[in-house]
Amino acid sequence: MEYSPKFFFAFLLLLIPSFASSLQQNQVYIVYFGEHSGEKTAQEIEEHHHSYLYSVKDTEEDARSSLIYSYKHSINGFAAKLSPEEAQKLSENDEVVSVLPSKQYSVHTTRSWEFVGIERSPGLEGKVDKDELIVKARYGKDVIAGVLDSGVWPESESFSDEGMGPIPKRWKGACATGDNFKCNKKIIGARFYIKGYESYYGPLNRTLDSYSPRDVDGHGSHTASTVAGRRVPNVASAGGFARGTASGGAPHARLAIYKVCWAIPGQEKSDGNTCFAEDMLAGIDDAINDGIDVLSASIGAHEPYEYYYDFIAIGALHAIKKNIVVSCSAGNDGPKASTLSNPAPWILTVGASSMDRTFVADIHLGNGKKVKGQTITAYKLENKMYPLVRAAQVAHSNVAKNMTDQCLPGSLDPKKARGKIVMCLRGAGLRVGKGQEAKRAGAVGFILGNSKANGEELSVDAHVLPANAVGYKNAMRILKYIDSTKNPKAYIGLAKTVYKDVTAPFMAAFSSRGPSVISPDILKPDITAPGLNVLAAWSGGASPTKLSTDHRRVKYNVLSGTSMSCPHVSGAAVLLKAIHPDWSSAAIRSAIMTTAALTNNKGHPITDASGNEADPFQFGAGHFRPTKAADPGLIYDASYEDYALYVCNFNNSKKVVPHFHCPKKPPSPGNLNYPSVAVPKLKGTVVIKRTVTNVGSSTSNSIYFATAKPPVGISVKISPPILIFKHLGEKKSFTITFRAEPELEVGKIPKGEYLFGHYSWNDANNVYDVRSPIAVALA
Ligand SMILES: *[C@@H]1O[C@H](CO)[C@@H](O)[C@H](O)[C@H]1NC(C)=O
Ligand SMILES: *[C@@H]1O[C@H](CO)[C@@H](O)[C@H](O)[C@H]1NC(C)=O
Ligand SMILES: *[C@@H]1O[C@H](CO)[C@@H](O)[C@H](O)[C@H]1NC(C)=O
Repeated sequence: MEYSPKFFFAFLLLLIPSFASSLQQNQVYIVYFGEHSGEKTAQEIEEHHHSYLYSVKDTEEDARSSLIYSYKHSINGFAAKLSPEEAQKLSENDEVVSVLPSKQYSVHTTRSWEFVGIERSPGLEGKVDKDELIVKARYGKDVIAGVLDSGVWPESESFSDEGMGPIPKRWKGACATGDNFKCNKKIIGARFYIKGYESYYGPLNRTLDSYSPRDVDGHGSHTASTVAGRRVPNVASAGGFARGTASGGAPHARLAIYKVCWAIPGQEKSDGNTCFAEDMLAGIDDAINDGIDVLSASIGAHEPYEYYYDFIAIGALHAIKKNIVVSCSAGNDGPKASTLSNPAPWILTVGASSMDRTFVADIHLGNGKKVKGQTITAYKLENKMYPLVRAAQVAHSNVAKNMTDQCLPGSLDPKKARGKIVMCLRGAGLRVGKGQEAKRAGAVGFILGNSKANGEELSVDAHVLPANAVGYKNAMRILKYIDSTKNPKAYIGLAKTVYKDVTAPFMAAFSSRGPSVISPDILKPDITAPGLNVLAAWSGGASPTKLSTDHRRVKYNVLSGTSMSCPHVSGAAVLLKAIHPDWSSAAIRSAIMTTAALTNNKGHPITDASGNEADPFQFGAGHFRPTKAADPGLIYDASYEDYALYVCNFNNSKKVVPHFHCPKKPPSPGNLNYPSVAVPKLKGTVVIKRTVTNVGSSTSNSIYFATAKPPVGISVKISPPILIFKHLGEKKSFTITFRAEPELEVGKIPKGEYLFGHYSWNDANNVYDVRSPIAVALA
C-alpha cells in the first residue's frame, strides 16, 4: 500500500492534536533566494541567512537553534524551524523568493523484492551491442554519477574498486564516516543529510537506520549498483536458483552517494522510507559542488506540484546550469492517466517496462490442468496435492466484504487456513505482507492473483513460504476451478528461468502515465527502461522482503519500480557522457529519446501489461537503446536559458527563476526545443518550432528528409521537409504545423482525448532515424 506523506500528516493531526499544534508552530520551512552570485564566502552566506532569522526570532539563540541548513554552493536558501507568522514575515522581504513548508518524498519502488539476473537487457539490446558501447565508453571510466537515495552498502562486491585508477583530480567531494563506512576508488564520495528528518521525528533511532551513508534499507544499494555497479558474475537468489550476472550500466564510473532517505519510526521497513525536501536540497547542493556529471534520483512525490513548490525540480534546475544530467523516476501510480512525477522539462523522466526473462512455475490443479505463474521464492512444497482455498473462504467473519480476498494482516483464520494453499488477490496491502499473513495463518503455500488493473504483469517476490504469482486471467481461472468443485486441490511447482519466447518489453502497469498536469505542453515520460524484476546489489542490513519477521540476508535482490528503471537510464547517460564529454544534458536526453525503440523483441508495437498497444504517455519516445544513442545523427539541444524562458510562461516563474529576466512575451511553452511534441489544445492550426543540431557523420553533406506518422485525423506538415547540413555542429530550424482534419472538427473525437503519432528525420544514407513522438488533443 502506498503510504502518502499527506495521508501520514493528516493521520498525525487527527490523532494527536496537541502534538500536531506544536508541530505546526515549529514546522520546517525552506526559505529560497535563488542562486548565489559567487561573491560571498561560505561564512558570509551563513551570516546572511542568519540575519534573516534574527529579524523574525526573539533571540540570537533562537535564530541559531532554528536553522537547519544553510545552502551555500549553488542553491541560495536555508531551511529553518519557523512559526507560520515568522514564515509570513520572512516572505515579505524583497530578496526572499519563496518561503514554503517542507515536504516528504518517497522512493519509487513497488516493494517487490526478489533475486534474478539483469545482464541480459530487454531483448532489444543484443548483449554484444551493449558490450561494444560499454567498451567505447571505456566502461564509463572517470565519469562521476551521484545517487540521491537511502545510502549504500559499501562492502557489496558490486562496489569493489579492484583495478580502478586514481580518483579524478576534479573531484571535490567528501566521505562521511561512522558505522565503519569507508569509501574507495569506486565509491569516491558519500554524505548523509538527516537534519530535516530529525527535526520532524526527533533523534534517529539507530536500530532503525545507520547514522552514516550506510544503507540499511536496500533501495540505495540497488539503484547505485544499477547505475555503476561492477560486473559480478554468478550471483544468486536466496533460494540458490535464478543465477545471473549483476552489472551496472557503467561499471567503471565513479559513484558519489547522497543519503537523504531514512526509515520511518514505528513503521515496517517494508512500508517504505521517507526523504525530506530540505535534506534532498542539501544533498543536491553538495552534489553539484562536488563535481558529479549525472544525478540519479529514484524519488518523487505522489501528487503533482507546480515547479516553485517542487524541490526536486528546483534542485535539478541548479544542476542543469552546471550541465549535470538529472534522471528521475516517473513514479509508480499507474495505470491511471496523469499520475506522473518529475515532469520538469529539464529532467529526464523514466517509465518502467519488462525484460525478456521470467521465472515460470506451474500450478497443478486437482482437475489435472496446469496454470502458469512466476516465482522466485526459496521454499518448496512436498510433492503432493494440498487443499486449495480462496482467502475469502478462510478469512475471519469480521473482515470487510471487499477485503476478504486481500490477505491483509490478521485477516485469515488459522483454524480454517492451516495446512492449505491459500489464494490471495492483489489490490490493497503489500505483496510480501500477504505471504506473511498466509504463513502466520498456517497456510503451506500461497498463490497471489493479479487484479484486473495489474493485468498480466508479474512482480516476483522472495516470499516467506512456497508461493506463486499469477496474472489476472489465470487468477480468474483458478477461482473458477475453486468454485467448480467440492474439494479443490493444488500443488505449486518450482520455477525455471525462461528467456526465450518471452515477449518484451511491455509497459509495467504501475508505471506512472502522462499527460503531465503541470506541463501539458511537454510530452512525458521521456523514455522507458527495465523496471520489472531487476536484480541488483542489496544491503546487508535488510531482509529481501524487508519484513521484520524475515531474518534472511542476501547480497543481491530483485525489485520492481520506476526506481529501478531510472538508474538504467542514468547509467546510459554516464556512458554517453564518457563518449561525448562536450554534450549538454539536453543533448544526452535527446540522443536517448530519438533513438528509442517502439517495437518489442517480436517486432510488434510495445504493449501495456494487458496486451493492448501502449502509447507515448506510457513510454515517451519508447524503450531506450543506449548503443544507438551514442550516434543519434541529430540532437535537439536546449540550455538553461531555454528552460528559464519556458518557466517564464508560468504565473510563479519568479519563484523558480528569480534572477532571470523574463521577456514580456516569452516563447510559447510548446516551442521549448524538446525531442517530443505535445499539443494539448489543438484548435484551427498550431505551429511548433524546433531546431536540430548535426552531430552525425562529418565526411560530406548530410541530407535529412522529414517523414511523419500523424495521429489519426490530424494533419502534420513539416517545413522545410528537407534539411541539408554542410558541417558538424550546424543548426537548422523547422516548423511542424498541426491541423485537425475536417471530419474530426465535427466532433468524432472527444475534446481532450489524446491522439498519438510521431515524426522523423531520416538521412539520405539511411543511417539515422531521428524520431520524435507526438501527442495531440483537440481543444
Ligand atoms: C528503536 O527501534 C526499535 C526497532 O523498531 C524499537 O524496538 C525501539 O523501541 C526503538 N527505540 C526507541 C527509543 O524508540
Ligand atoms: C473496499 O471498500 C472500501 C470502502 O468502500 C474502499 O475504501 C476500499 O478501497 C475497497 N477495497 C478494495 C480492495 O476494493
Ligand atoms: C495565473 O494567474 C491568473 C491571474 O491571477 C489566473 O487567472 C490563472 O488561472 C493563473 N494560471 C495558472 C496556470 O495558475
